[in-house]
Amino acid sequence: MGRFSRRRFMASSASLALGTVIPRNVFTDSTVMHRVRVRTDAEIGVVKPELHGHFAEHLGSCVYGGLWVGKDSKVPNVNGHRRLAIEYLRDLGIPVLRWPGGCFADDYHWRDGIGPPAKRPKRVNIHWGGSVEDNSFGTHEFIDLCRLIKAEPYFAGNVGSGSPRELRDWVEYCNYPSGSDLSEERVANGSREPFHVRYWGVGNESWGCGGDMRPEEYAALYRQFAVYLREFGGTKPFLIASGPSGSDVGWSRGFLDKMRGEFPDGLSMHYYEGGADAPTEFTVPHMNDQLSIFAKVEDSIRLQRSVLDGYRQGGNVGLILDEWGVWDRIPESDERRYGKLWQQSTMRGALAAGLGLNSFNRLADKLYMCNIAQIVNVLQSLLITEGAQSEKCVRTTSYYAFALFKGHRSKTSLHVDTQDQSPLGLSSSASRGGDEMVLSFVNPRSDLDLRVHCSLAGALATEGTAEILHSADLNACNSFLKPDTVVLQKHAVKVDGSKIQLDMPRLSVATVTLRLGR
Ligand code: AHR
Repeated sequence: MGRFSRRRFMASSASLALGTVIPRNVFTDSTVMHRVRVRTDAEIGVVKPELHGHFAEHLGSCVYGGLWVGKDSKVPNVNGHRRLAIEYLRDLGIPVLRWPGGCFADDYHWRDGIGPPAKRPKRVNIHWGGSVEDNSFGTHEFIDLCRLIKAEPYFAGNVGSGSPRELRDWVEYCNYPSGSDLSEERVANGSREPFHVRYWGVGNESWGCGGDMRPEEYAALYRQFAVYLREFGGTKPFLIASGPSGSDVGWSRGFLDKMRGEFPDGLSMHYYEGGADAPTEFTVPHMNDQLSIFAKVEDSIRLQRSVLDGYRQGGNVGLILDEWGVWDRIPESDERRYGKLWQQSTMRGALAAGLGLNSFNRLADKLYMCNIAQIVNVLQSLLITEGAQSEKCVRTTSYYAFALFKGHRSKTSLHVDTQDQSPLGLSSSASRGGDEMVLSFVNPRSDLDLRVHCSLAGALATEGTAEILHSADLNACNSFLKPDTVVLQKHAVKVDGSKIQLDMPRLSVATVTLRLGR
């Protein structure tokens, strides 16, 4: 690494493209040069849009008061769904949405959520604070939401307190075209068209809140359930088994060993990045501890993939990071005011999202789907809302971090060589599709401004643009009073054939979009 003086930076910035915005006063004498090299000859795999998936649980104000306000609400809504949330999520693009849990899924009985809303039973949410839910948001409402935001639905089925019969009936209710009692019930409830639900989770965290089982017990149940989950109307269910927590290979092997070679389509692993402080009061050391966990997540994904690949036919099982994201120390006062696990997202959260999404690009050949927890109000959410009666709906820093990665979807991920591969070194990823290349960088350091010199091995760029999400304050966030504190800005990028240069100030996430020449 070479040190840059402030004078050299001022001189070189004059040559940057006109019309771009240079963050002011961010560079200091500690600016350091960092080299990266994109290897266009080294393809990793397609960045499946599903790597940018999401999760909505009946937990706190994620569904009730968040996404769902009800048709009679004074809050502007579309069929009961909060209008602003729909618009923001549609703009971002939500490839897949998992519902109704989480832990909630193994205590959810789908028949409670169909039919005339006034007749639906009220049930206690035993996992999340004992709140009483009126089931006004059920299967039809979820499918309507997915259609509004153009997301593919992913249902998490109840294994812990449910039965194979109950889950097989849900599949038939959703997917059988017409003529059976269950499909006619769906039609009577307003949907002639089958829902064509492809993704079915068979339990959630079956080692914990989903039934407290041992892997061999769960394997026996999984096999029993899977027998009855069938293709209807041309929609073949993609069955996702409850997998390990992080790098627990004991669970994975214990389960896979008992599968007699009849593997599920997907194996779900969960990995949260815990934090020691309240969301907006993080210290630098605690931020560094939390962000360093992403290196371990990457190792765990490689490990779980290698376990799967070790079995004959195991290579066909899609590895799904079904729940991930920062899980901070949540103040009780926030939970009392806004609901269980309500968590503000800060510049630190955006760095975390960027580190995760960069690693998913790098692991594109190893992952099938990744769903951040959760989409609204809960943990690392994209949107926060102020309550069921309030119109306020704010795009968090994590929302903007996801927006920065949208350009990678469906492109082919490429190897990037970097100088510093330590957990808090500059994080990078690249992808290419046709004559477009997208590069993303995260500088998680709070004490180091970087000037990135990126070379393209085997490609020439003719032009480029960049966007950045940056605040020098790691606790900066978009609040109900100041919703636009941390938003995307245009950023300066210098493009000269195979050489790209941009500045990555401390605590920043940026994406460069390049047009390639022949
Ligand atoms: O996302 C919150 C909870 O975390 C989920 O319900 C559960 O699956 C996990 O433990």
